[in-house]
Amino acid sequence: MCGELRLSDGGIPAVLMGWVNRRRDLGNLIFLDVRDRSGITQIVFNKERDPGLHAKAESLRNEYVVAVVGTVKQRDPSTVNPNIPTGEVELVAEQLRILNDSRQPPFLPGESVLPNEEMRLKYRYIDLRRDVMQKNIELRHSVAASIRNYLSVHGFFEIETPFMTRSTPEGARDYLVPSRVQPGSFYALPQSPQMFKQILMISGFDRYFQIVRCFRDEDLRADRQPEFTQIDLEMSYPQQQQVWEVVEGFLTAAFKTAGHEIKTPFPRMSYDQALRLYGNDKPDLRLPPMMDVRQAGTPGELDEFTSKFKIRKDLPVQLIRIPKAGDISGTERRTIGTYGAYQQAQAASFIQLMTDTKRFARDFPALSEKLIQSAKIEPDDLWLLAGALQTDATSTAQSVEHFCARCGFLRLDLAQKYAAKHRAFEKTGQSEKDFKFLWVTDFPMFEWDAAARRWNPAHHPFTSLHEEDMAKLEANLDTVHDPASPLGEIRALAYDVVLNGTELGSGSIRIHRQDIQKKIFQALGMSEEEAKSRFGFFLEALEYGTPPHGGIALGLDRIVMILAGADSLREVIPFPKTARAVDLMVDAPTPVSEAQLKELGIKTTR
Ligand code: AMO
Repeated sequence: MCGELRLSDGGIPAVLMGWVNRRRDLGNLIFLDVRDRSGITQIVFNKERDPGLHAKAESLRNEYVVAVVGTVKQRDPSTVNPNIPTGEVELVAEQLRILNDSRQPPFLPGESVLPNEEMRLKYRYIDLRRDVMQKNIELRHSVAASIRNYLSVHGFFEIETPFMTRSTPEGARDYLVPSRVQPGSFYALPQSPQMFKQILMISGFDRYFQIVRCFRDEDLRADRQPEFTQIDLEMSYPQQQQVWEVVEGFLTAAFKTAGHEIKTPFPRMSYDQALRLYGNDKPDLRLPPMMDVRQAGTPGELDEFTSKFKIRKDLPVQLIRIPKAGDISGTERRTIGTYGAYQQAQAASFIQLMTDTKRFARDFPALSEKLIQSAKIEPDDLWLLAGALQTDATSTAQSVEHFCARCGFLRLDLAQKYAAKHRAFEKTGQSEKDFKFLWVTDFPMFEWDAAARRWNPAHHPFTSLHEEDMAKLEANLDTVHDPASPLGEIRALAYDVVLNGTELGSGSIRIHRQDIQKKIFQALGMSEEEAKSRFGFFLEALEYGTPPHGGIALGLDRIVMILAGADSLREVIPFPKTARAVDLMVDAPTPVSEAQLKELGIKTTR
């Protein structure tokens, strides 16, 4: 292949096939870089040796497909190219066959300047020829293969589940497929194989996995695609730790494939801790946590500080530190407090920001000194204090979460702006210490949906709860519309695996008893009829000897994205969709013919 020839191959005959990456015409000599997925080799056509062959080579253009027969030769020392593995040799051409010509492509795979993304997606077949994309797709293959292998060796069966099915409750909108033979009825594409994998436990396949496509009609972001791939698994009789060990095992294998050693077991942190320390449920451990200033233990000055700035005393005052932010002027520090994004954060939860640390040190010397010591603040760190204003009248319980979340948002935003120079927050590089994994545990069972004014499942409604919280559930079965309901305090046996601030996967121990499952539906305000019509088959299956079970699903695309150091899933999915869920290459979705609609019994209104 074009990336394989080395010095030790000198003198041997070789045949190379590939694309013309570049042609350089030096009069008597034509140099041709020929490319395939393994790399590039330089081929030489010498006019003196073979004028006919040289003339043929003159007709070659970029992206023509050629086959060349020749002899491998050591390059002159002056022409060695140390940047490519084949750089010490070249192929002296003896025969050339032009297997196909090519129109001038809209952009060249060998060019370092990239065209805009729209162009790349429209001509994805050309874009995929680029070296980076070839590597990303190969990485994706190796990662998937290593995971598949690990799970197979550990007793998991890969079992397929249907794509044309009915709605699964993962919280997004469904993609629907109309049925021709049942006019007016629709299949839903699975948002995940959740119910099927649980059914497989009921059927006795006690270790299941699948590398499977899932479909969700939701607002898209850099780390979300409408169709994406999960590494989905389920086990019978597991403790949470056993699920975690399996995940740590296959991630170790996958990262090893990509050349990285990772350390297991991953650290663990409860959801509550994550929220207080990092302000979100997917902490980026590459940056230090926030610190509640009250821990510093200088109550006198702290009291003075909170009174002077009208800060609430029942909520934390958070110290946010961005290490090695470098030189930030006093003016810049002061303006941080008035940034648009922060104004929004302030308006939303009445936050007071103290960013002028010099002034702070002058007015509150003891407290300032104490904070510098206990948070280990270095001179080139950026740090600030955030407190909730007294004008924020929400109850303490509600506000802690909200306030910490706002602080977490600030922390990440500041990190993105000011920690660029800081090695620990660079885009994931190729060093093992950059991979900070974490298990976030004990998620709440329910979350309050302020717009719909109701409690929703925080994970999905098949998630099991902590046994100690059962009484709380039973005492609050009819409080779905009460924002103050203790439903919010019930902890689930649910966990996320997080890497560098990205949620890689989510899972839980499931409910295996039908009576408890019914109670959850009741607490969610779902009538028995509604539960029956949505999940009747599943509730019935639970009645036939369901073993305790649990599992998890990880986003394959996200894992590969991080390993590739890419900043969008589109860089690691061969044929992705745009933020508007359009495939620019095939031009989908499209309107369909009247005849097709008629056959399906469908009328469109737009
Ligand atoms: P969840 O909905 O959290 O859990 O999804 C699991 C993981 O899938 C990935 N993911 C996505 N990746 C790309 N684009 C998307 N639109 C997208 N949505 C989700 C994420 C996420 O962590 N059935 C449960 C799992 C279980 O309980 O076993 C589920 O699907 O990496």
